[in-house]
Amino acid sequence: MTNSTHRKTTGIAIVPAVVLAAFTALFHMVGFAAQEKNIPDHSSFTDCQACHAEKFKMWEASKHSEASTHVTPKSGADCIGCHTAEGFAARLRGEKFDPAGKEKFNTISCVSCHKPGSSANPKQLVRDSEKLCDECHTQRRVLEGKGATGVKDTRSFHSALTCVSCHMPEANHYLKVIRPDDPDLPEDRLDTCARCHKDNSRKARAKHLLDWQAFYKEAMDPINADLAAISAATKEKPDLLNAGLKAKLSTVRANLFILQQDASRGAHNLDFALEIMSQASKDIKEIKAAIK
Ligand code: HEC
Ligand code: HEC
Ligand code: HEC
Ligand code: HEC
Ligand code: HEC
Ligand code: HEC
Repeated sequence: MTNSTHRKTTGIAIVPAVVLAAFTALFHMVGFAAQEKNIPDHSSFTDCQACHAEKFKMWEASKHSEASTHVTPKSGADCIGCHTAEGFAARLRGEKFDPAGKEKFNTISCVSCHKPGSSANPKQLVRDSEKLCDECHTQRRVLEGKGATGVKDTRSFHSALTCVSCHMPEANHYLKVIRPDDPDLPEDRLDTCARCHKDNSRKARAKHLLDWQAFYKEAMDPINADLAAISAATKEKPDLLNAGLKAKLSTVRANLFILQQDASRGAHNLDFALEIMSQASKDIKEIKAAIK
């Protein structure tokens, strides 16, 4: 918009001019914001590190940078589809891919999650962020408290939250939550929980998290000890359990695997974890009685 159009408009009528002036101001604000950010056309970029050094440093320290180290000569197409950039890209395109040379495939890097230049997503992601996590991660079923056999669905107050709201505050590419009890966390840095719970102290937030994980451990340790004892006994005498109890044992193991794979040790949804463990304890009691 030139100065002359400005003058012309002002000359015609006062009210529209005021409205126009407001629009011009808005236009400039947006213009300045874009200028400050100065987002380039990403379509030709091959290296991200040069300009996003901080994101790169965080990503490098995260487990995503190590994902491909778990690929071994035995790894099948499924492993490669989650643990390498090439496999993941092919899976998103719905293509079968040739695992030949898989040991040299790239790890989950910037361009596994971002397609700068060709993505309509505001953060230039290959999928909306929550769908993106779900492509490889299984934690949502625990967060939402569903999918365990013979255990009622159990939501927690955090069930509706997004993964990124806790794991990527301020686009933190470490992906690890910033624990309130992290001894290396400076006083002036916000922990993950403080993003939403601003009213209580860091100590109080830490106590919640520590309690959840302590309750979880307290319930899980005896279950693991019992399972180890059952394994030892049935190894010695494979016919110790009848078909019904064998089926029960395999359901117990499958349900506990959900928690093991979740890896948050009760932090995502303690109530659901306790439901699963309580059912497991009941079933294990019955199995132990049959063994004695
Ligand atoms: C020549 C420098 C440069 C290179 C190389 C570069 N970027 Fe950027 N990128 C920028 C700038 C500047 C911005 C805007 C400021 C910001 O948000 O950091 C930006 C913004 C972004 C954003 C945020 C978009 C938004 O709208 O907020 C993403 C995501 C991104 N870049 C990803 C990448 C990825 C992935 C690569 C590698 C394939 C890459 N960039 C390479 C300079 C670069
Ligand atoms: C659906 C995606 C997916 C598939 C398929 C997959 N993984 Fe993973 N793997 C993950 C994710 C995500 C993690 C990180 C932990 C988590 O969130 O479950 C992980 C973690 C791991 C770890 C680290 C475990 C640890 O305790 O630190 C190893 C080792 C591993 N996977 C090996 C494999 C192998 C071998 C295969 C093929 C048999 C495979 N994965 C198939 C997604 C997958
Ligand atoms: C596992 C997937 C994943 C990987 C790998 C990844 N990102 Fe991101 N990135 C995201 C998500 C998700 C967001 C949006 C987070 C949000 O919604 O706040 C994001 C946001 C960004 C942004 C925008 C930051 C802002 O302040 O809005 C930039 C820039 C960026 N990523 C650059 C990179 C670069 C550079 C790399 C590689 C060093 C990289 N990302 C690797 C998932 C990823
Ligand atoms: C292409 C598959 C893939 C995508 C997409 C992905 N992850 Fe991962 N993620 C993995 C794998 C594989 C690992 C484990 C790597 C290892 O242990 O070597 C992992 C590890 C993690 C860890 C453990 C970090 C640590 O240091 O212990 C967190 C947390 C995580 N991812 C969160 C997320 C979130 C949140 C999203 C969505 C924004 C996401 N991931 C998207 C595959 C993926
Ligand atoms: C309410 C916040 C919150 C939400 C929402 C959340 N997480 Fe977590 N997550 C945590 C906490 C807290 C831990 C435990 C961290 C610890 O033990 O240090 C954790 C642990 C994990 C771990 C184990 C590795 C690690 O970093 O310790 C993975 C992987 C993970 N979350 C992925 C996800 C995914 C994927 C989603 C979305 C489906 C999600 N989380 C949603 C808070 C959250
Ligand atoms: C993205 C926002 C968000 C994050 C991050 C978050 N919470 Fe929450 N939290 C909520 C919401 C929303 C509720 C339900 C409303 C309520 O009861 O206040 C809730 C409820 C709770 C409750 C039960 C109600 C109460 O206030 O006593 C506890 C305890 C809690 N959160 C602890 C934590 C801890 C510990 C963390 C960090 C690991 C955390 N939250 C991270 C949003 C969040």
